Amino acid sequence: MNLTILIIEPNDAVRNLLAKNFTDQFAAKVLTASDLSSAKTEFDKEFVQIIILRNKSESEELSRDFLSYLYDKGLKTPTIILGEIESSTQSHITVLTKFRIEEINRLVLKSLGLKKEDFEHVKLPSYIPYPISFFHLIRYFPVDIYILLSKKSGDEYIKRFQEGENFTKDDLTKYESMGLKVFYINKEDNHLFMNVFAIQTVAELKKSKDITSAITNLEDTFTISQNMLTQLGISEDVVYLTDESIKYMQNLLTKNDKVAQMLKDILSNQLSFSYKRSYLVSLFGTLLLPKLEFGSAEQKELYISKFVMVSFFHDLFLEDEKLLKVNNFDEFSKLKKELSKYEIDLIETHANKMSNLLLQYPKLPSGIDVLVKQHHGTSNGIGFPESFSNSISPMAITFIVIEDFVTQLILKNDLKQIPSILYILKDRYTLPSYKKTVQELFNLFKNPAKPEN
Ligand SMILES: [Fe+2]
Ligand SMILES: [Fe+2]
Repeated sequence: MNLTILIIEPNDAVRNLLAKNFTDQFAAKVLTASDLSSAKTEFDKEFVQIIILRNKSESEELSRDFLSYLYDKGLKTPTIILGEIESSTQSHITVLTKFRIEEINRLVLKSLGLKKEDFEHVKLPSYIPYPISFFHLIRYFPVDIYILLSKKSGDEYIKRFQEGENFTKDDLTKYESMGLKVFYINKEDNHLFMNVFAIQTVAELKKSKDITSAITNLEDTFTISQNMLTQLGISEDVVYLTDESIKYMQNLLTKNDKVAQMLKDILSNQLSFSYKRSYLVSLFGTLLLPKLEFGSAEQKELYISKFVMVSFFHDLFLEDEKLLKVNNFDEFSKLKKELSKYEIDLIETHANKMSNLLLQYPKLPSGIDVLVKQHHGTSNGIGFPESFSNSISPMAITFIVIEDFVTQLILKNDLKQIPSILYILKDRYTLPSYKKTVQELFNLFKNPAKPEN
């Protein structure tokens, strides 16, 4: 069964995600288009069996125009519309308001009168690569591990470790120092591997002896689950690992009341900028949110966990530290000339992209996707606003102020600079809704006087 699918979707991340899904699931030939004219060209080029079209407020005209293009041609190609649409009494159009990959796949089969079994021959490649860094937190191999030898006669996968074999971090470093970046796993073992991997990683994490080693161990789990989310997509095991890391962080934050010591530890430790910032943003969220009236005392745990999740997810598409440090319109304008077109685009769209990816995340508390989208102050998650406004969610506002504070603190890496950072914030955030958070930061640090210079 050869399937040709046309995806019309302006958002790169969503389009790539859908395309990957259709090639993985159905070995489909996927045509993609991001605007009306390319959609027409792609559609006319081949015999398209089914169309996936997303109707969002920004792309409303695109979907309406494409549907009338089909209508004018007198065609009734099965079309799945993701999103709301005014009227769709036509039988070849199916509307799906919830963005769920499994549901989309089910509808594709249903619309074409096909069964899942028709695609059973479609399989993943025989060996699946995993970066060696993924193995840093586990102590034995749950499945056989292969390495790839490229020979003139072709690629050959050689078994390196037996299922059940123990190893140390040093063993891995040895391979890494030889320039090896990935291990391979037989595709048949993949599900088992992911499953055991996630469980083992979490178990190792929970063995941490003291708070300092817990914070360091969490960095690995945190980074690995973040990488898995962007590189492998959302699967049951990745979700398990992610949820556990977030829960664990929240636990560490609420268990420890020695804030000053924790701040010192984090700042002086050899941790990545990204992890330090997520951790400290969560820490200050935990301290300030209860004072900012985000809900009743019973709701406290829920709104704090939302905040921690936003700090985990919001910048996943920015891997480069240079890009992670850009926090507002002025900083972005200044840095722009040093950035490639790709980097500029990535910074401009990362909030929107991540928010879209989260639409697939199971059982995510409501509003996380919106907070992620608004974390730089625009309501559509594109770019930075020239001046801050009230038109975003109050929690996003608090997030912006806290992230600004934490970013400056990490860059200055000196607790004595806190008063001067606070006064920078005071000048920068003049709207009452933003000032509230700035004021709570002042209170937390006992309202320091303005430094002389
Ligand atoms: Fe950020
Ligand atoms: Fe960001």
